[in-house]
Amino acid sequence: MEVYLNGKFVPYEQAVVSVEDRGFVFADGIYEVVRIYHGKPFLWQEHMDRLRRSAQAIRLKLPAMEELTQAGFETMRRSQLDDATLYIQITRGAAPRLHSFPVGVEPTVFMIARPYHRPAATMVQKGIACITVPDLRWHKCSIKTVGLLLNVIAKQEAEDAGADDAVFVRDDVITEGTSSNFFMVKDGTLITHPADDFILRGITRDFVIELAEEMGIPVREEYITRDALSQSDEAFLTSTGVEVLPVTVIDGQKVGSGRPGPVTMRLWERFDQVVAESVE
Ligand SMILES: Cc1ncc(COP(=O)(O)O)c(C=O)c1O
Repeated sequence: MEVYLNGKFVPYEQAVVSVEDRGFVFADGIYEVVRIYHGKPFLWQEHMDRLRRSAQAIRLKLPAMEELTQAGFETMRRSQLDDATLYIQITRGAAPRLHSFPVGVEPTVFMIARPYHRPAATMVQKGIACITVPDLRWHKCSIKTVGLLLNVIAKQEAEDAGADDAVFVRDDVITEGTSSNFFMVKDGTLITHPADDFILRGITRDFVIELAEEMGIPVREEYITRDALSQSDEAFLTSTGVEVLPVTVIDGQKVGSGRPGPVTMRLWERFDQVVAESVE
């Protein structure tokens, strides 16, 4: 397998970066994960726009977008994968460890395509169990940085507790999942956290909101308290990887009937249809 590293395609085993890379030392970098369906990238432009926003937010100068796009497409092409994810990571480069930005150092650009399959149908039909964990992350969750330590710990806590995933709670408000956005449904209306600095504005989140609006499902972007959550009829997560994934248990309590709800499943079906149409 070949990966893209700093302008070249190299065998996976030979793709190495410096021990002084600022991604490694400071988590001084950003990333994207793009879904590839039948060899085609899904919502590519949206991912590139977010990458640009993340770069601006951390004051990282990106290579030209055309160069990144060409590298991304070539990484996908060389992988010959049909169903895959493309991971793109860009750090502030390698330099002796000093907090201030290094001068005259090129960013490290890495891309890899990996085989990927959507969650199993049985998982979608049953829904997943989540636990809630305190959201102790910083105040810039809107930036897609590689600094994911608390996300990693929360995911492991969920697995240790026998659950599938965790959702973060900040000041009594449900923010998002460890690598996904969170939605609930109440009386036929979708409710999700506003796209402020306390969540990552998911590409899938925005896409699902668009689909819902087209389908005549009302959407409100507002804070979901624990109390509101306990009254919800349905809940689900969205992300590039899980698409629309029903959550049927939270902290051991059933969400609504304890089965994936009708609004969630309508959205899942519509999402699936749009993906199928996009690769025709
Ligand atoms: C913390 C967090 N929130 C939300 C998302 C969902 O974003 P997207 O739909 O763009 O994959 C992710 C994806 O990795 C994430 O890590």
